[in-house]
Amino acid sequence: MKSKQGLILAAAMVTAVTLCSLSPTQQSEWKAKNLKVMSKRSTKAEVDSVMKQFNMALGVRCNFCHTPSKDDPKKMDFASDENRHKEIARDMMKMTAKIKKKYLEVTCYTCHNGKKEPLLAPEARDPH
Ligand code: HEC
Ligand code: HEC
Repeated sequence: MKSKQGLILAAAMVTAVTLCSLSPTQQSEWKAKNLKVMSKRSTKAEVDSVMKQFNMALGVRCNFCHTPSKDDPKKMDFASDENRHKEIARDMMKMTAKIKKKYLEVTCYTCHNGKKEPLLAPEARDPH
């Protein structure tokens, strides 16, 4: 009984040490290369969370704004600015921040509602 407890304790300690030594280095290794609107010091978790919100708000996948990598087309080159939607999205981020500061709580979803191009006016209706 005693030795079993000791074993469990030892295993727990090894796990704790492994976790402690892994996570901080993994965190500091990742660094965004090309952020112009978000803080350059954003963590991977922060960037990922914003990007997932974009996907949901516009009803698109990552490749709507990002281009595949030239070296390995199976991967995405998230730092590249070749996809023009990325630049539009940057302008939208700035605009959204401005509206938020001046007027009201607003997100991409407020206007986009899950669509790439939000409707600015009601759809054309039958004139009757
Ligand atoms: C609506 C457009 C849009 C969508 C969709 C989108 N992104 Fe982005 N992404 C951007 C923009 C704009 C930036 C740059 C932000 C800045 O300049 O501060 C960016 C930056 C990034 C970066 C940082 C790259 C670097 O090194 O500078 C990563 C990583 C990233 N996106 C991953 C993703 C992933 C993963 C998805 C899908 C879950 C995704 N993005 C979906 C627009 C988008
Ligand atoms: C105040 C309303 C509003 C907000 C907030 C808003 N957008 Fe937009 N967005 C629009 C309108 C309207 C269009 C279509 C007209 C245009 O392309 O100029 C558009 C177009 C776009 C496009 C181009 C779509 C295409 O088919 O080419 C992208 C990408 C985009 N928005 C991303 C975003 C992101 C990312 C956010 C949040 C950071 C955001 N938008 C917030 C109103 C908004």
